[in-house]
Amino acid sequence: MKSINIGIIGAGYVGLTTAACFAHLGHNVICVDNDENKIKILLSGKIPFYEPGLDKLVIENITQGRLQFTTQTQKAVKESLVLFIAVGTPPKESGEPDLSYVENVAQEIGSVLNDYRVIVEKSTVPVKTGDWIKETITRYNKSKAPFDVASNPEFLREGSAINDFLNPDRIVIGVESDRAKEILLQIYEPINAPKIITDIKSAELIKHASNAFLAMKISFINSISIICELAGASVDKVAQGIGLDKRIGPAFLNAGVGYGGFCFPKDLKAFIKIAEELGYDYRLLKEVERINEEQKQRFVKKIEGLLWNLRGKQIGILGLAFKPNTDDMRFAPSIDIINELQARGAKIKAYDPYAMNNAKKILKDVTYCNDPYEVAKNSEALVIITEWDEFRNLDLMRIKELLKLPIIVDGRNIFDPPKMAELGFIYRSVGR
Ligand code: UDX
Repeated sequence: MKSINIGIIGAGYVGLTTAACFAHLGHNVICVDNDENKIKILLSGKIPFYEPGLDKLVIENITQGRLQFTTQTQKAVKESLVLFIAVGTPPKESGEPDLSYVENVAQEIGSVLNDYRVIVEKSTVPVKTGDWIKETITRYNKSKAPFDVASNPEFLREGSAINDFLNPDRIVIGVESDRAKEILLQIYEPINAPKIITDIKSAELIKHASNAFLAMKISFINSISIICELAGASVDKVAQGIGLDKRIGPAFLNAGVGYGGFCFPKDLKAFIKIAEELGYDYRLLKEVERINEEQKQRFVKKIEGLLWNLRGKQIGILGLAFKPNTDDMRFAPSIDIINELQARGAKIKAYDPYAMNNAKKILKDVTYCNDPYEVAKNSEALVIITEWDEFRNLDLMRIKELLKLPIIVDGRNIFDPPKMAELGFIYRSVGR
């Protein structure tokens, strides 16, 4: 394999995982971030968030001299053939993504360009952003150095990002020239996965369409969970039954309190907005969003339905992160659920194995505990919001003794209802 000099601009979840994995594949990588503190942390061999295995991969590749960190974009542009833009695209008030960081990077690259480079969009961006990046680089490119723009969207799930990078279902490469295509194929040569070559706009759309479809699958099964509750059926069985149809597939059919995280909510809003700008009212995706919001409200009503008045009552929450194996609290369903419970007067005690530090910055008046048992102690009900493995293996008899009332409301369906009834719990879950 030919090793290629790669620059990654942005050392967030996507940028850092991409940088470490490219270095692991044998390329020479320079990772840039304008946050000096973040670069300091990275140079000391630590990573600024929790992602299983990433710290080890970063240290290994720093030690082997394949991974460098800097605050200087200029250095990366000078020394790399390919530059991946992996900076943030946070949502604006309107739902549109804020692309000013992408623009800044394009300006910076353009103004120091002096030889052929491939500039690749890695951040999730609206269709046609590639055109803007090209235009911006051209405007700032005084030396008139040749360059290509490409789109190579990421499909990394937090918590399993390294595995998703190294064993992907597919690699999408959106290009305008054979030269850029060959270079990107060389970079990904060690990875055995179908490689889809498209134009840039189709590649940009593949990313938004994938996330929109997955969010739709979750809202679909959540809507089925409502029907199941009304009809007296079981959503797990329905999901199993439909998931075995190869055209549907079993993944992403877990009913629960709804999707969260920094991708689905933001990407859906952005996609609806892009469609609107293009002249299409994306009602299907608006409904996907609505079902997701309603799912959290229904869950709060379920708790209220079991406890009657919530005023002054202590409720124990297990799990705050938007999903297991991450400390990420961004758009976590726990936030809306806890806010609603507090608005009804409930007192909240909570535990999460990794997300409590981040939760403290967002949630108010929550008592944080050292373990699930401390949460259960004297609570009127135990509420499960994130399905950490730790919770599947709880000593339920101990929990029952500690709880004021033996009530568990499970937003992720981690326990078996007949077994819970046998143990003497009043147990409610979603769609069962
Ligand atoms: C997602 C995409 O999967 C990834 O490809 C993309 O590029 C980034 O966004 P991520 O946000 O890390 O990844 O998490 P993911 O595992 O997809 O879960 C998203 C949300 O959906 C979580 O809140 C999760 O709890 C929820 N979910 C997922 C369900 O409620 N039910 C399911 O069956 C699956």
